[in-house]
Amino acid sequence: MRHLIDPTDFTVEEINQLMLRALDIIDNRAKYADACRGKKLATLFYEPSTRTRLSFTAAMMELGGNVLGFSDAASSSVSKGETVADTARVISQFADIIAMRHPKEGAPFIASQYASIPVINAGDGGHSHPTQTLTDLLTIRRELGRFDHLTVGLCGDLKYGRTVHSLIKAMGRYEGVKFVLIAPDELRLPDYIKHDVCDANNLEYIEVSTLEEAMPLVDVLYMTRVQEERFEDRAQYLRLRDSFILDTDKMALGKKDMIVLHPLPRVNEITPEVDNDPRAAYFRQVENGKFVRMSLIYTLLEWKTQDTRHETRELVEGDKCSNHRCITTIEPAKNLYYKAENNIWRCIYCDHEK
Ligand code: CP
Repeated sequence: MRHLIDPTDFTVEEINQLMLRALDIIDNRAKYADACRGKKLATLFYEPSTRTRLSFTAAMMELGGNVLGFSDAASSSVSKGETVADTARVISQFADIIAMRHPKEGAPFIASQYASIPVINAGDGGHSHPTQTLTDLLTIRRELGRFDHLTVGLCGDLKYGRTVHSLIKAMGRYEGVKFVLIAPDELRLPDYIKHDVCDANNLEYIEVSTLEEAMPLVDVLYMTRVQEERFEDRAQYLRLRDSFILDTDKMALGKKDMIVLHPLPRVNEITPEVDNDPRAAYFRQVENGKFVRMSLIYTLLEWKTQDTRHETRELVEGDKCSNHRCITTIEPAKNLYYKAENNIWRCIYCDHEK
């Protein structure tokens, strides 16, 4: 059985297969109308969502399957103290596949250790969002026709923006990809992405302080919202939230064939006038999210007989993780750390340094 917890759980070849199947679904909708007849998807959303939950629901419905679940942790037995591990065991008796969103980092990973059905990470805290990455990849593929030799600008909240972390991991595996990082000092990329992903793989990146500098360079501009819900200091959020705003003047500095992506929801980092620019691909990106999730559900159910991937990293047991957003702060899980770049030990659930 296979799960999708991190974008690199799938090889480049497997991602390619997922993309090809998504493109086939787009061209042959009727062929897939009964592909998951009799199967059930459980959507376990402990944190708000519009696109991810509803696109998973629409995806399963268009595959002929059914959907059950909750969209508010308060209406589930987590409000009585049930653990993610127990919830995963229980839901495995009712459904064939789980999509889980959780504010704690590593929660879907714990679920995958206890479930007897495939688990999909639908976003865990400020950590990862691999199905958004699949959505982004399908959009880049449909809009630009390739993944290699692209310059990708990432703008906004690169610290808490889980979509950015997952996209760098995924895009960094293609030849000739470069990144332009545009963020306030306080919201720069976490070390585990910068050192363990970018530096360790010799990925080319530059950091710039204005959108004006980035616009002429990029083929893909990935705008993100400053993640209000992850800040402990509200004054800091208010100070940083409008750091970068994409408007029509800045769009005029961009390449003619570049595209603008945004995982959405947007707050005010892209002015509404930009929506009329054909290079603004973020609403087309939403539709791709449904098609790629159809491809993913179908494929993970098909792969159910494959072996579960085993941990190959060197692990040690340690004290409680110091990241207050880590699932181990609320779940009675063994604290394990893996050896990362420069002999730094990182939590297996949230990648935070030991
Ligand atoms: N992009 C994304 O994850 O949107 P939702 O939070 O609405 O699911």
